[in-house]
Amino acid sequence: MQPTRRILIGSAAAAMSAPATAFAQRRGGGGRGESTAKDAPPLAMNDAEKRALDVLDDIEKRQSYYNISQQDGRLLRTLAHSTRAQRAIEVGTSTGYSGIWLALGLRSTGGKLTTFEIDKPRAATAAANFKRAGVEASIDIVVGDAHTEVPKLTGPVDLVFIDADKDGYLHYLTTLLPMLRPGGLVIADNMQVPAPDPRYVKAVTTEPGLETLFLNMHGTGLAVTLKKA
Ligand SMILES: C[S@@+](CC[C@H](N)C(=O)[O-])C[C@H]1O[C@@H](n2cnc3c(N)ncnc32)[C@H](O)[C@@H]1O
Repeated sequence: MQPTRRILIGSAAAAMSAPATAFAQRRGGGGRGESTAKDAPPLAMNDAEKRALDVLDDIEKRQSYYNISQQDGRLLRTLAHSTRAQRAIEVGTSTGYSGIWLALGLRSTGGKLTTFEIDKPRAATAAANFKRAGVEASIDIVVGDAHTEVPKLTGPVDLVFIDADKDGYLHYLTTLLPMLRPGGLVIADNMQVPAPDPRYVKAVTTEPGLETLFLNMHGTGLAVTLKKA
């Protein structure tokens, strides 16, 4: 046919020789070459969200203390929102970064977050950040050792995020799992780095009542565990 058409056929043929395209075609991908799908920055849909996103950005730049990545935060927000969580528990507040992401998810559900932090100055920084972000009404900070404070909770709980002392994960899991409603989630950070406690990994992968996926393992790695209904 016309030259233009021939050029298109020629480049399509070249692209088809690329391994990625062959893989895409085996999967029914249509041979478009390399994927253009990649995360774009979070976008604020209103002033309240912009206020929170600005504080998250500021924490990343000025106040980071072993916080999760932005991608993990966005996943926490998505899970809190999509599971319609009413009651979320976080173990390990730090400067409040993950707490603000969770609170953004809970904003749509009217839910509340209780977050535990052993370090008083860090808890104070988190409290100030929750206020700056406009999410303080939906978050309670408990200052103290989560190993003694978490067992004082009563259920039901919809979502748990574990991100404190790494040797404590199994204790947090066994304490909080009975309080978790069927269909609830336990999310744990650091399944890649630092290497997780193998007892935790075993506990969430060998119990038939749980479904666990390891996500974002290119970063610190999250375990997302569903308590089956
Ligand atoms: C990795 S940081 C948490 C980061 C936070 N989730 C974020 O992404 O913004 C871990 C925090 O857990 C706290 N922590 C460690 N052991 C704890 C314990 N036994 N009880 C409560 N908090 C603890 C540390 O003081 C630290 O601030």
